[in-house]
Amino acid sequence: MDHFGFKQGEIYAEDLPVSKIAADVGTPFYCYSTETLIRHYNVFCAAFSDQDFLLCYAVKANTNQAIIKTLAQQGSGADVVSEGELRRALQAGIPARKIVYSGVAKTEQEMAFALNQGIFQFNVESQPELHQLSRIAESLGKTAAIAFRINPDVDAKTHAKISTGKSENKFGIPLSRAREIYAEAAKLPGIRVQGVDLHIGSQLTDLEPFAEAFRRIVTLVEDLRTDGHEITVLDLGGGLGIPYDRATTKPPLPTEYGEMAKKIVGHLGCKIIIEPGRLLVGNAGILVSKVIYIKQGEGRKFLIIDAAMNDLVRPSMYDAYHEIVAVKQNDANLSTYDIVGPVCETGDTFARDRELPELESGDLVVIRSAGAYGAVMSSTYNTRRLIPEVLVKGGEYAIVRPRPSYEEIIGLDSLPTWME
Ligand code: LLP
Repeated sequence: MDHFGFKQGEIYAEDLPVSKIAADVGTPFYCYSTETLIRHYNVFCAAFSDQDFLLCYAVKANTNQAIIKTLAQQGSGADVVSEGELRRALQAGIPARKIVYSGVAKTEQEMAFALNQGIFQFNVESQPELHQLSRIAESLGKTAAIAFRINPDVDAKTHAKISTGKSENKFGIPLSRAREIYAEAAKLPGIRVQGVDLHIGSQLTDLEPFAEAFRRIVTLVEDLRTDGHEITVLDLGGGLGIPYDRATTKPPLPTEYGEMAKKIVGHLGCKIIIEPGRLLVGNAGILVSKVIYIKQGEGRKFLIIDAAMNDLVRPSMYDAYHEIVAVKQNDANLSTYDIVGPVCETGDTFARDRELPELESGDLVVIRSAGAYGAVMSSTYNTRRLIPEVLVKGGEYAIVRPRPSYEEIIGLDSLPTWME
């Protein structure tokens, strides 16, 4: 459920007409709903309320400081994958003791920074990474609390580019080598083994791959305990999908996910961590855009809007489906459009063969479910300016990232002295 519904024939963001924000801010822009974000956070926490539990928001999904801070104020922790994300999480008020650090290749500098902050856990993904972390922790006189990210070799049945838990993927250490590598870690200075971690992929719409991976991890935890390791933390990763197409997709609810997880891992008595990204922010954000032209091609009608693949790359990159709706309802006949942006690539296509009411230049459309992996994956390709992000709370809104000027974008370049 989100708070972008129709009232009096037009889409509102909570208590504000989207058209009013568009008139103030200009299009295109991202618009987020505080109420939706908090609701998603609470639903997840309620699903694990009877457990020792920490939700670590995967900030990669949306790193806007206002988004992270909204969740920090609810008590959220963070899952980060770079020093930059760690800095963003800390700056937004998430305490280091609630931060886990994932990622396949943390550098020396990143490790040192995280150790000095005193983060809760490093999710280690390889032996070379383990040894480097040990060396750096020892040299700083610190101890790194670690979990290994285990690759359980489970097919997440999601898009190939966002599937991470098969043995052919670059992520984690193979389950078959886990006991040996935990034994190695236990002997290293500067390392304290505390947990097991996994993340099998993103946008999963079926619980079974999660369940299968969790069952494999339970066996591992039992084996590790037999080997003498004190395993107190279980990080189950993120990945629960959202209904991008509400007519056809009904992913399991967080409550159902929680029930399933608790049934499988609950008896271990571990602190449970989850790292959702998309489920918290995906449907808490929309992209608002304006029709520039309607172009009648041979056999196809193109709705050319002012947002493009550089603003939201998901359709071009993953063939992702996003619902697209007109901001104002009208009684006009339906027409079938290919909805495209102005960038010079055929891949700059948001959707094909979509039915919308007849629209005109200047009309507004909304691309739904754009809060996750939208703004964070945007670029200035075609020297288009990054688009503003707006956060709504009830009847108020704030610009939480302004549209940069052309001078700012071009000013990032500098000329070599020989050209002066
Ligand atoms: N934890 C780890 C270690 C991850 O790698 C990810 C996502 C998450 C948690 C959060 O997963 P979520 O709950 O959001 O599914 N750009 C792609 C998605 C990439 C996901 C990468 N890892 C997209 O737009 O679909």
